Amino acid sequence: MCGIIAYTGTQQALPVLLDGLKRLEYRGYDSTGVSLISRKRIKTVKAAGKLNVLESKLDTPVSGHCGIGHTRWATHGAPTDENAHPHYDADHRYAVVHNGIIENVDALKAKLGKKVTYTSETDSEVIAHLLAQHGGDFVDALRDVLLQITGTYGLAVIDKEHPDTIIVARNGSPVILGIKDDEMLAASDMSALSRYTNQVIHLDDGEIAVLKPGHFEVSRLDSTVSEKQAITLNLQNANYDRGGHPHYLYKEIVDQPDTVRQTLSGRLDERFSTAHLGGLNLSARDLIGIKRITILGCGSALYAGMAGANMIETLARIPVNAEPAAEFRYRNPVIEQDSLYIVVSQSGETFDTLAALREVQRKGGFVLGIVNSVGSTIAREVDGGIYMHAGPEVSVASTKAYTSMLTAFSLLALLLGRSRDVSPQKGNSIINELKALPEKISQVLTLETDIAKIANKYKKSASAFFIGRTSGFPVALEGAQKLKEISYIHAEAYPASELKHGPLALVTKKTPCVVILPDDELLLKTVSSMEEIKARGGPVIAVTSSDSKRIDKLADAVLRVPASGTLTQPVLMGIVLQLLAYHSAVSLGRDVDQPRNLAKSVTVE
Ligand code: G6P
Repeated sequence: MCGIIAYTGTQQALPVLLDGLKRLEYRGYDSTGVSLISRKRIKTVKAAGKLNVLESKLDTPVSGHCGIGHTRWATHGAPTDENAHPHYDADHRYAVVHNGIIENVDALKAKLGKKVTYTSETDSEVIAHLLAQHGGDFVDALRDVLLQITGTYGLAVIDKEHPDTIIVARNGSPVILGIKDDEMLAASDMSALSRYTNQVIHLDDGEIAVLKPGHFEVSRLDSTVSEKQAITLNLQNANYDRGGHPHYLYKEIVDQPDTVRQTLSGRLDERFSTAHLGGLNLSARDLIGIKRITILGCGSALYAGMAGANMIETLARIPVNAEPAAEFRYRNPVIEQDSLYIVVSQSGETFDTLAALREVQRKGGFVLGIVNSVGSTIAREVDGGIYMHAGPEVSVASTKAYTSMLTAFSLLALLLGRSRDVSPQKGNSIINELKALPEKISQVLTLETDIAKIANKYKKSASAFFIGRTSGFPVALEGAQKLKEISYIHAEAYPASELKHGPLALVTKKTPCVVILPDDELLLKTVSSMEEIKARGGPVIAVTSSDSKRIDKLADAVLRVPASGTLTQPVLMGIVLQLLAYHSAVSLGRDVDQPRNLAKSVTVE
């Protein structure tokens, strides 16, 4: 989604803003822009397209020590130069960058009257005109304007009358302050700040912050002062470099032995054959009192949640379901005291997941988070949780975070299982299975050449199917998701058992079918689905941990992952599908890290 960066201090602001925009680009990137206060005037340069288009417009750099920048993912109005942020009033006194949606924009425009000329189709521009009409003290004016807005915002504003001041505000869209000696930064995402400082403050909804070089003041919209303490971030894992790899996505795939190690680190309790999860805030008595679990997330986080539901239900024998956070929050869900709710999110900022979390808490439910981004809104609002520690994920399509979500779920399943009927012996064997996982992931990565050949062979397919059963089905869903997201090949996932109830009508020799075959009690039944596909001439790519010869006989290609226990098979097979999607996208010349129309962190509804 859109990204914000703001800087005031002793350095030239432009290089800081451009560097911030580069790091934010993954959030949304159909247009970019910057405004700087330069010799008591506001200079704004903006451009549709990627950051390099803006950079080429800035051949003669704009000087100035205070400025704001934005990357946009269009909601109101097409991605054009005019609709790119920052937006300004007629006199160019104020410049505004805004993330979120102003729902009452029509009413606000009516209030402004007919004399105002708008230069864009965005809802955001109205903020600059409202400020201009208000005039007067900068902070008071912005406070009054914000009180008139219905909707969501994370925003940063500059005023040429206050050449070293930036005001930022938050309601539903993240804003983080970065504190540094005689400078101050703000951004919508840690990635834009981590190069400059590890001292940060997360604004809460309804807060507004006035930033001057080396100084900040946070208050609420009603003018009451908010006492905020900076937190020190551990930036050890905050590596935003591609590490010499051609794409972030590739780096994030091949890093998975390490990122899974990080998720597991310190959490395997061999003494009691269980998992040690310090952040849950649940006692042993609370754990045995859990009667039902509901898992909520969006996109890949939802599919990870579905895999997690299988793991927990199988091991701990607690009924678990996973559902899309956005649907859950609107169906007036029944919240039960003895239920546990789990929200899953890489960014910790996904609007729908956050809204679902708040809905559960509003009704008195207890919510755990499985979150990657430390200090994110979801991480701060949950009642307890598990950090994934996978490090920043930059590529839009989730890979290492998805895998770490599954790993976190294995730990939770082990803990819940051991709080019930799972024996110490079984607990130990799961610990050994988890300990062996990073090495097995390394073995899966050696399949890359075979996977690339298969990707190349089928890259011209208009459509592909992914099928699996029980624990294999969420793997199929995520595999289809990855393929469509980055290669744009139409891909659908079905439970293998459902194939004959409809989709089989579409199977021809031109529709490759990826069949997920964990080595479990349903293996032979899924092999029968392979038979059905082959009988219709469909090419079959089998992804399996079984050494069954029947699979080799039937399939056009077999991608075999190392044998492992039931908890970790989905991780290994998922990584095969990540590589399949990656090589399909590369061979089709797609923009792997920044696929069309998508954004990494969806902070609007
Ligand atoms: C977006 C991304 C997906 C991601 C989903 C949930 O749609 O493109 O890759 O799975 O959001 O994101 P989260 O940060 O909550 O895991």
